[in-house]
Amino acid sequence: LIGYLNGKFDDLERLHISPLDRGFLFADGVYEVWMCYDGRRFADEQHWQRLKASLAGISLPFPNLQGCRSILDQLVERNAQQKGTAGIYLQITRGVAPRKHAFPEATSPTLFAYSFPFQRPREALASGVSVHLIAEMRWTRCDIKSIALLGNVLAKEQAKGHGAFEALFVREGHVVEGTHSNLFAVRRGALWTHPLGPFILGGITRAHVLQLARSAGMDVREQALTVEELFQADEVFLTGTTTELMPVIQVEDRSIGDGRPGAITRELQRLFWKSTAFPPPLEFNELP
Ligand SMILES: Cc1ncc(COP(=O)(O)O)c(C=O)c1O
Repeated sequence: LIGYLNGKFDDLERLHISPLDRGFLFADGVYEVWMCYDGRRFADEQHWQRLKASLAGISLPFPNLQGCRSILDQLVERNAQQKGTAGIYLQITRGVAPRKHAFPEATSPTLFAYSFPFQRPREALASGVSVHLIAEMRWTRCDIKSIALLGNVLAKEQAKGHGAFEALFVREGHVVEGTHSNLFAVRRGALWTHPLGPFILGGITRAHVLQLARSAGMDVREQALTVEELFQADEVFLTGTTTELMPVIQVEDRSIGDGRPGAITRELQRLFWKSTAFPPPLEFNELP
């Protein structure tokens, strides 16, 4: 695979960073992930806007984000990913400097990007997944898409150990989000999701789904759910760039609804795939 590092395209194995890069030493950086279908990045502008917000969140000026667009285009082209699905990863760190906590004075940022082949989770999108609950152990700036993901990594590993697709973080009795996804639930006909703020990442897919739901006339509440409310929800699903709109049919050992993806989830999936132009993972009449 071809990647890009500070002005140079090359095989990933030939690209190297300094051990003094602050991304390596302090996780002092931010990132973005795009989904690319047939060479077209989904919600491109929204990802650049969030990257800008993340950079501002860590006081890291980055003068020419505009110029980065063509880097992403070139990666997809050089990796021959113009057909089907690919993921694109872009990371910006504060750069290389002697290891001192405070910001270095004159250091240029490190920019790394690559595009990777991505298999959509087609079966799971059709049948639904289970999730595992875990006590929140991250910081209070989850709205910054920081590369400091150890809490997310440990939680996802625990979910894997429980045979679950995703871990959901619980903060003071409320379910906030997953390790790489946002959470939605349907309760008494209304669609619930955690409000924006410091405890969740403002997901691009979350915002897109909220817009679809509102346009379809659904009753939408950006309000946190308690664990008990989640257990009792009629339907639950996750959203994310690589997760798309994923039905949840089980939370811990408890079934959600009748243990199959619910009708509102299915309708939102339909609207989602229509609006993104990603093909549905199965013909709809084949969906369980
Ligand atoms: C912690 C967290 N929450 C939510 C999301 C979903 O955001 P998006 O829809 O922009 O991919 C992600 C994406 O990776 C994430 O890492």
